[in-house]
This record gives sequence, C-alpha cells and structure tokens, in this order.
Amino acid sequence: MIDEGKNLTKGAYAVADKTSEPVLDAVMIAPENQSPLKAVMVFVFAIIAALVSLVFWLTHPQIDQYTQSVLNLSGDPVQGRSIFVMNCVACHGQWANGKVGPNLHGVSDRKSDARLVQQVVSGETPPMPQFQPSPQDMADLLSYLKQL
Ligand code: HEC
Repeated sequence: MIDEGKNLTKGAYAVADKTSEPVLDAVMIAPENQSPLKAVMVFVFAIIAALVSLVFWLTHPQIDQYTQSVLNLSGDPVQGRSIFVMNCVACHGQWANGKVGPNLHGVSDRKSDARLVQQVVSGETPPMPQFQPSPQDMADLLSYLKQL
C-alpha cells in the first residue's frame, strides 16, 4: 500500500511535469524606467510623420488614369492645332489670343500638364464646356498648348 502510494505520487508528478509548459514572463517596464520624455518624443514624431505625409499628399495630387495615359503619349502639335481650330477658337480666338476665353499664350507656364488636361476635360470652369477627347487627341492638343 505504501509503495503504491509512493508510485502514485511519482506518477502524479510525472503527469504534472508533462503538462506544465514554460510560462513566458511578460516583459514589464518598471515604472521608474518609463520616461515621460520618451512618450512625448514618440508623439511628436508621429505628428511630424503625419504632417509630412499630408504635405506630400497635397503637393502630389493623384493623377487619374486618363490624365496619366495622356501624359504617357507623345503629342503632335500640328494635329493639336487642327483640334484646337475645330473646338476652341470660338472662345479663345483663331490664334489663341483670347475672346470669351482668355489668351492662351504662355498658359503652360501658369499650369502644369496635368492641370491643362483637367482644364479641358473637367468642365469645372463654365462657360468652357467639358471636352472628352481621346487620350491621343488630348496629347496632341496639349502639345499645341505647350508651344503657344
Ligand atoms: C465656350 C467657350 C470656350 C470654349 C469652346 C473653350 N474654352 Fe477654354 N476657357 C473658356 C473660359 C471662359 C476660360 C476661363 C475659365 C476660368 O478660369 O474661369 C477658359 C480657360 C481655358 C484654359 C485655362 C486658361 C488659363 O489662363 O488658365 C485653357 C488651357 C483652355 N481654356 C483651353 C481650351 C481648349 C484647349 C479648348 C478646346 C478644346 C477650349 N479651351 C474651349 C472658354 C472656352
């Protein structure tokens, strides 16, 4: 009986050893090691990172797919001139000197390529209508506007 009891006890230990798993001690930072300055610096860096991304986002506006495909094409200014004559001279004048719409000479100094494309396709500045040229037609038109 005593032996059996001893055996049982041994067995119980054995089972306990098999099932017990190493418990990882959670890494605790002692309160005296938590620096408030560190927390403030992390916060400040987070703010700076957010501001930098905001500025980047504002200065690099997303270019839509249509504009991107126009900018990837090379335009023919002669072709662009004939598209201009058909669609734009009524308002901007035969030689783009301006009538209802403004003089377009040097317009590419004032506006980026992407902005010029937007000006033509957006219809955001009435009475100038919203045009829907094919990317190649728009690339031709753009190359004409840029050499004015
Ligand atoms: C119905 C008249 C009209 C027609 C047609 C027209 N425009 Fe315009 N356009 C305007 C007016 C008005 C403005 C000025 C809009 C504003 O900024 O308020 C303008 C502005 C522009 C500008 C910007 C000028 C600047 O100084 O920033 C460009 C570029 C332009 N037009 C190109 C074109 C092209 C290219 C066509 C032909 C595909 C065209 N427009 C057809 C009336 C017209």
